[in-house]
Amino acid sequence: MNATQHEAHMQFDHLGETYDIFGRSPFRQFMEYPTTFAAMGDISGLSILDYGCGSGLYTRMLKRKGANRCVGVDATPSMIEHAQGIEKSTALGAEYVVMDDKFPQGFEGAFDIVLAVYVLPFMTDVEQLEAWFRNSTKCLRPGGRLVAVSGSSDTKNDPGYFQQYGFRLYKDEAPEGTEPHPCKLDLCYDTLDNKGIQTYLWTKARLEDASKKAGFGDFEWCEPVIKEGKVDQSFWEPVLSRPNTYTFRCTLL
Ligand SMILES: C[S@@+](CC[C@H](N)C(=O)[O-])C[C@H]1O[C@@H](n2cnc3c(N)ncnc32)[C@H](O)[C@@H]1O
Repeated sequence: MNATQHEAHMQFDHLGETYDIFGRSPFRQFMEYPTTFAAMGDISGLSILDYGCGSGLYTRMLKRKGANRCVGVDATPSMIEHAQGIEKSTALGAEYVVMDDKFPQGFEGAFDIVLAVYVLPFMTDVEQLEAWFRNSTKCLRPGGRLVAVSGSSDTKNDPGYFQQYGFRLYKDEAPEGTEPHPCKLDLCYDTLDNKGIQTYLWTKARLEDASKKAGFGDFEWCEPVIKEGKVDQSFWEPVLSRPNTYTFRCTLL
């Protein structure tokens, strides 16, 4: 891991509680989670690697929704300690391991699904992104799937646009075609006031290309799924007309 890559994930040191709070936002609960779970399909009895698990939000949900073995891995030790602390008080049988891009380290061929929510926006260059896709193939059984949520490179620099969802995005000035495109993120949901988290936005073409080069096929962009009746429909209009993320799935050939 080079210095820029190290900085990209060290931003999360001691943000476990922050991510648990943001995890309760209507944006995540009623749109992001339903979209991600629809993309995964039936997970009963499956083994799932939650890569970049952070505070373990998805790892716990996967267990509760009937997955078998769920392992959350993250490069930030304090995130893993936070998730392990929750597992101690509310035992679900989820496992948590500190692990960076050098994965799978002992998890070769062990999983039906690799899930990666908001981790690709912390990959800082094409080499790292492509290596990550290659490594994720090593964790999967033949026919296993990768499901990921990435930041949208189509996002405009209009920080207040997503404020009602609990975050602001500041797309950096960069020459046309810069990839990944740097973009800063503020979290402002509820009591949160986390400013200037550095992220990187990938184009759809790059994500699809990296998946193919690694040996995935059946690449599919997943439409947003909204849990009806929770929030007024008008709340969703801005994000549906200009999404801040792409969700995709693909299968190991
Ligand atoms: C935005 S958080 C998302 C956490 C979780 N997936 C969720 O949806 O709540 C991104 C996480 O990815 C981790 N991360 C960033 N770069 C990483 C890398 N190269 N390898 C492993 N984890 C990484 C960070 O430590 C952080 O916990």
